[in-house]
Amino acid sequence: MALAKSDWSAADQQAGFGLPARYYYDGAVFDQEKRNVFLKSWHLVAHVNELRDCGSYVTFEVFDQSVLVVRGRDGEIRAFHNVCQHRGNRLVGTRCGKVNLLTCAYHAWTYSIDGTLKAAPHTERLAGFDKAEHGLRGVSVNIFAAFVFINLDPQAMPIAAMAPGAEAMIRRYVPDLDRLVSIEVSDVAVPANWKVIQENSIEGYHFDFAGPAHAQLVSLIDFQHYSLRPHGNWWTYIGPPRSDATHAYGVPLQGATWQTDSFFNFGLWPNTTLYVFPYADVLGTFIMTPTGPEESTLRFAYYGAEGRALPDLTRACIHWMNGVLGPEDIRLNESTQKGLRSMGFERGRYVIGDESDSRGEHLVRHFHKLCYDAIHA
Ligand code: FES
Ligand SMILES: [Fe+2]
Repeated sequence: MALAKSDWSAADQQAGFGLPARYYYDGAVFDQEKRNVFLKSWHLVAHVNELRDCGSYVTFEVFDQSVLVVRGRDGEIRAFHNVCQHRGNRLVGTRCGKVNLLTCAYHAWTYSIDGTLKAAPHTERLAGFDKAEHGLRGVSVNIFAAFVFINLDPQAMPIAAMAPGAEAMIRRYVPDLDRLVSIEVSDVAVPANWKVIQENSIEGYHFDFAGPAHAQLVSLIDFQHYSLRPHGNWWTYIGPPRSDATHAYGVPLQGATWQTDSFFNFGLWPNTTLYVFPYADVLGTFIMTPTGPEESTLRFAYYGAEGRALPDLTRACIHWMNGVLGPEDIRLNESTQKGLRSMGFERGRYVIGDESDSRGEHLVRHFHKLCYDAIHA
């Protein structure tokens, strides 16, 4: 059953009220989000350099859908539903690796890495059986800003068209984008709706108050020149580094580094964040994928420039994000999720000053509009 559209009225929005609390736990909202948002949106699966060799692959899950992304012999990166066309067995069970052929573990149907069926035992004399009709089913794939994205909607608009200007903006702050290689990836289960995690990550209002790790981050950013900018399906929040900082992540600062030293965050609708912390020579991705109305998998991945040793400060930054700042925010997300179910709470109130207000919740409001419009599309 479709949701009533009137549950977040124009008057509510005008008055500065956020999405109703049930948008964060209601199964009907979640079902509609699943259909209208996540089964139609672009999902970051890897950096192109993780699929550099022919036959290198990654798999990616969106709810119960598994997608296999593999580099072909012709250099093309293709995506397929990760399912054997014989009787539906899951074809590849590991997150990444390298193959010459894709052989199903059940009855050994064997596919070439371009998805065509090469061999199927005992089908040689099977009447009406044409291997050409049983290749893997394709999934849309897009390379954007040197990352590989997939989309389960065959009609999806390419990212460059959906987010004009975005790639140029990323390249300004991440000059080594094409030369990045994976450093590490970890998945953390968070008992919170994906929007709770996203909202926490797109406002600086909490930075001064939310704990010692946030205070450390504040000490590195020049908030006088901080900007939050919505651009339709993408957004940025950027702050130059503070010139009086002497240490970052517990390590002394020693001169300029290869990136711009700014705090740079780029968000792509609905759930992809690329970011760089001040002074750290690493690009992080921060992706919250819903696994249920009140639970998400949060993937923390880090990429460094190929051929350069990671500076101690950068290592310290990764360690700090994984072990200090990340957990401080995750605790807030968990406790917010609990509060959203309270009978004593209906909806939030944005704290938004003028457009230049670096601590405002402009992007939360922008994100809510994108969510609401997509959920009710
Ligand atoms: S299900 Fe894959 S070969 Fe039978
Ligand atoms: Fe935070």
